[in-house]
Amino acid sequence: MPELAYLNGKYLPISEAFVPIDDRGYQFGDGVYEVISVHSQKPFLFAEHMKRLTQSLSGLKIDNADLAEVADVVKTLCSRSESKRAKLYFSITRGVAPRSHVIPPNLKPNLVATIREAPQIPEEILEDGIKAITLPDYRWGRCDLKTLNLLWNVMAAQQAAEKGASEGILLGDTDVVREGSSSNVFAVFSNQILTHPLTRNILPGITRKLIIDLADSIGAAVSEEMFDKKRLMEADEIFISGTIAEIAGITKVDNRIIGNGRTGVLTKELRNALWSKIADYCKKSDFEIYSA
Ligand code: PDD
Repeated sequence: MPELAYLNGKYLPISEAFVPIDDRGYQFGDGVYEVISVHSQKPFLFAEHMKRLTQSLSGLKIDNADLAEVADVVKTLCSRSESKRAKLYFSITRGVAPRSHVIPPNLKPNLVATIREAPQIPEEILEDGIKAITLPDYRWGRCDLKTLNLLWNVMAAQQAAEKGASEGILLGDTDVVREGSSSNVFAVFSNQILTHPLTRNILPGITRKLIIDLADSIGAAVSEEMFDKKRLMEADEIFISGTIAEIAGITKVDNRIIGNGRTGVLTKELRNALWSKIADYCKKSDFEIYSA
C-alpha cells in the first residue's frame, strides 16, 4: 500500500514530509499523539482515541487544536489505505516558534499524520509469546497523557531489545508493576486478571479498556489493583495489550519462564474475543468514524 503523510493541508509520500526545526514537538517533545489501528479502511475505536486525545491536549493546555481537521485527516488517510490492516499515527504539537521554555502566545498547533501497513504478528509469537525484562520507571509524573516525550519508553524498549526481549515492564516504587514501554500489562491468576489501576503513572490504554469490557464474555474478571513484581512472577499467565500489538502473551520475564512457557489459555480466549470484535467492526458497511 502507499505510505502516506499529511502535512500542512496536503497528502504526500512520507519521505517528502518535513516539519520546521522550530516546531516545539522537535525541540521539547511538546505535543501529543495517537496510534490507531485501521481495519478495512476504518479506524477501530476512533471515538475512544479522540476522547483520549482531548484529555492529553487539555493536560498540556493545548486548547486550540482543530479536532475537525483531525477527523477529516483520519477519514481521508483511512480511505486511501489499501491494506486490510494499517497503522495510523498522528501528532499534534503546540506549534512553531523560536525556542523558548516559556510558551509564546498565539501558537497554531501543528497536525501531522502518517498511515502505513501494520506489521503482521508472526504465528510463533501468537503461540510462544514474547520475552520481557523489568526495569525501574524513570518517566515523568503524567504518564496518563499520551505525549511525545517518550525518552524513557525508548530507553526501556532498547534495553529490552539488547537483552533479546520484546518489552520492558516498568516498575514503580516497591516494585509495583505499572505498564510496558508501549503496552499495558496484565497478570492472570486462574480466572482473575490483575492490571494497574488508572492513575497518573500509566496510559489509559484503549485496548486495556476493551479487554476489561471483554473479560466477562470469557468468564473472567479484571481487577484494577496494584501488584508487585514478586506477584507478577507467580502469575499463571502474563500478557500485554496495545493498539498494534493487540494482545501478546509474555512467557518469560527476566529469564524466568511464566506458566508453561506458552501463551496462556485465557490470553488466547481474550485475543479471540478481540479479533471477533474487530471482525464485527469490519462487517459494518458504513464508515463509522465515531464508533461507540
Ligand atoms: N503505545 N502504555 C504505553 C506506554 C503505550 O505507549 C501504549 C501504546 C499503551 C497501550 O495503549 P493502546 O491500547 O491505547 O494502544 C500503553 C502506542 C501504540 C505507541 O506508542 O506506538
